[in-house]
Amino acid sequence: MVLKLVILPLVEQIGKKVFLTQAGHELNATCAEWLQTWERFEQTIADLKGMQQGRLRISAVTTTKYFMPRLLGPFCSQFPNIDISLEVVNRDGLLERLSRNQDDLYIMGVPPEEIDVEAEPFLDNPLVALAPASHPLAKQKRIPFKRLGQEKFLMRERGSGTRITMERLFAERDTPLNILMELGSNEAIKQAVAGGLGLALISQSTLSMDVNRKELTTLDVVGFPVMRAWYVLRPKGKQLSVVAEYFLQFLRENIRLLVPQF
Ligand code: PGA
Repeated sequence: MVLKLVILPLVEQIGKKVFLTQAGHELNATCAEWLQTWERFEQTIADLKGMQQGRLRISAVTTTKYFMPRLLGPFCSQFPNIDISLEVVNRDGLLERLSRNQDDLYIMGVPPEEIDVEAEPFLDNPLVALAPASHPLAKQKRIPFKRLGQEKFLMRERGSGTRITMERLFAERDTPLNILMELGSNEAIKQAVAGGLGLALISQSTLSMDVNRKELTTLDVVGFPVMRAWYVLRPKGKQLSVVAEYFLQFLRENIRLLVPQF
């Protein structure tokens, strides 16, 4: 019998770019499946050992950086052998991770409609209208929403939950949204508002440890603050590990004690 060896390339080069061949894609998919199977095995073993060890993977939207790390501190000191990772990304990045089932739990303000999830609200997430303290509207009471149509706004980047909420609010109230500038972080937005560039709608969570509160004020717009919530999510039907279940319980029981300013 003659053994014939067939060598299949895994990548191919077209111009300056390298692409996976069909065999490369198959190998990639097989490795990904194998890794997931191995992780499930590791988690089962960790579950059998209870809270003595294990891994907790959380991803959270950018704006939660004002409270999520503080919340993890007491959990870590209670369970020092648990390996915790917190991935902070914007809403689009989080949905990408959710669709790939990359984490145990997901924290966000605007749950997706297009993915089947179990979403549980656990904390208020009011949206406020932020202005420089010297702004002419700063002393006015009960400003009609339509008046905001005459102002210029600083916006978060596309894919941000804050931005989606803002766009929805202006569209629902049939008010033009004048965007002066797009900025990729809440801190940059607050600095720009303090510098008198424009106004912003921003989660109140971002105002707790402020740069310089004296330079900023929240406007008394009718219907504001817009009451929203922070949600903890998981794909529908996902079996949570013992560690993730425990963290969920910890979140429900301690959130108001650990972040009293909200
Ligand atoms: P963001 O999300 O940090 O992506 O803007 C905030 C939110 O969902 O409310």
